[in-house]
Amino acid sequence: MTISDDSTTARPIDRDRIAELTARESEALNRRTAGSGEMFARANQTLSGGVASAYQEREPWPIYLEGGSGPKVWDVDGNELWDFHNGFGSMVQGHAHPAIGRAIDDRYRKGTHFAAPTEDGIVVGEELAQRFRLPKWRYTNSGSESTMDAIRIARALTGREDIMKIFGSYHGHHDGVMVSIGVEYDKIGPREAPLSLPYGGGIPQGTVDLTHTIHFNDAEAMEARILGLEKEGRKPACVIMEAAMMNLGVVLPIPGYLEAVREVTRRHDVVLIFDEVKTGLCIAPGGAVEKFGVEPDMVTLAKSLGGGLPTGAIGMTEEVARVVEDGTVYQVGTYNGNPLGMAAARASLLEVLTPDAYAHLDRLNDRILAGCDEILREFELPGYSVGVGSKGCVTFSPARVTDYAVFKQNQDEELSELAWLYNFNRGIFMTPGREEEWTLSVTHTEEAIDAYVEAFREMASDLRA
Ligand SMILES: Cc1ncc(COP(=O)(O)O)c(C=O)c1O
Repeated sequence: MTISDDSTTARPIDRDRIAELTARESEALNRRTAGSGEMFARANQTLSGGVASAYQEREPWPIYLEGGSGPKVWDVDGNELWDFHNGFGSMVQGHAHPAIGRAIDDRYRKGTHFAAPTEDGIVVGEELAQRFRLPKWRYTNSGSESTMDAIRIARALTGREDIMKIFGSYHGHHDGVMVSIGVEYDKIGPREAPLSLPYGGGIPQGTVDLTHTIHFNDAEAMEARILGLEKEGRKPACVIMEAAMMNLGVVLPIPGYLEAVREVTRRHDVVLIFDEVKTGLCIAPGGAVEKFGVEPDMVTLAKSLGGGLPTGAIGMTEEVARVVEDGTVYQVGTYNGNPLGMAAARASLLEVLTPDAYAHLDRLNDRILAGCDEILREFELPGYSVGVGSKGCVTFSPARVTDYAVFKQNQDEELSELAWLYNFNRGIFMTPGREEEWTLSVTHTEEAIDAYVEAFREMASDLRA
């Protein structure tokens, strides 16, 4: 785990210069992606907004991709790009990995779907149990399904309806967790009891009211909130959280925080769910559980589990699993444990995401973080680099981000967007928006890392020119 020193020598950046460079880089990008522009005109006739999911939208048009191999992707205009986006962190294995390809091919020939369990699902469960230190597992098809089912299981186990999440965290698109995300700074509410606000339309107020929030990195506030809610007869069934936040760039837990959360939730008989949809399999073989050494009652997985196929999983203690096994909760789904997904996950876990692969990811992440850090210092930019395992980012903020409120108050949105444009125009495909991080893949090389650092250097130098 690496965090750079706070930059004490940072100087303000000329906002006009940011605007000027943004205009120049946007124009260059539009020229470079004219084919995507044409495809958007066609796609927009039948796909709402020209995309399959709102997270793929982009002004003036989305980038339409054609293929990917190892650490690279290419778009419909033939731009070849080092992939640091990696499908929002789903492709830590790299694209078209031969071991996963072989497994999918073999499985295809033997039939791809039965809605009946196969041996691959057992092997994957055995491997996950050992990596994440939880004995019992069930499958889903996405991160949203994993967190939705996990919360239902926690509710059934405790007989309580209220739940608690970290303010600003994203746990998927079902109603109960589409609460208090992307909120403007002045709408966050009191520090000790931030507001519960729906994230978009169509979410029943009654559901929003069942979801309570607290800020990350504050276990005392969590305990006080649990006690306060208990007094009102609304003690939460669970706390669902990422052990390291992955949707404000990367926000690491401060020392002792996760241990304190574990103690608080145990003391008050609240189920602790680590949502490892992003961290799991990307920051260590056993995700945050292994990396931080704190054991929750449940873990949710998806994204990189399937090596590019839509697969998710829920890990449980024996006690938690009882309500699934005795039929109290229907944890169901036609495609759960789909043979193709399970074959891909088995190959990924046993042949690709090996201890050597994680050592490689750690080495590369150290290199990219150090490279970015050096540039931040050299050009006296307000920001720092932070990362863990395959994940990392440069956070453009004069203050260390420890939770959503600090992020929203300090992060430089315009600079983050300029960085995305610089990256694309120099052959780097990054996650869009101001809130994401890179995911390296096991197929990335030092050449890929150095390309990223070089693009960053160019932006830093231009900003100070
Ligand atoms: C931490 C976390 N949980 C859950 C989800 C939802 O996963 P999915 O998009 O597969 O439904 C995401 C998606 O980004 C996530 O980052």
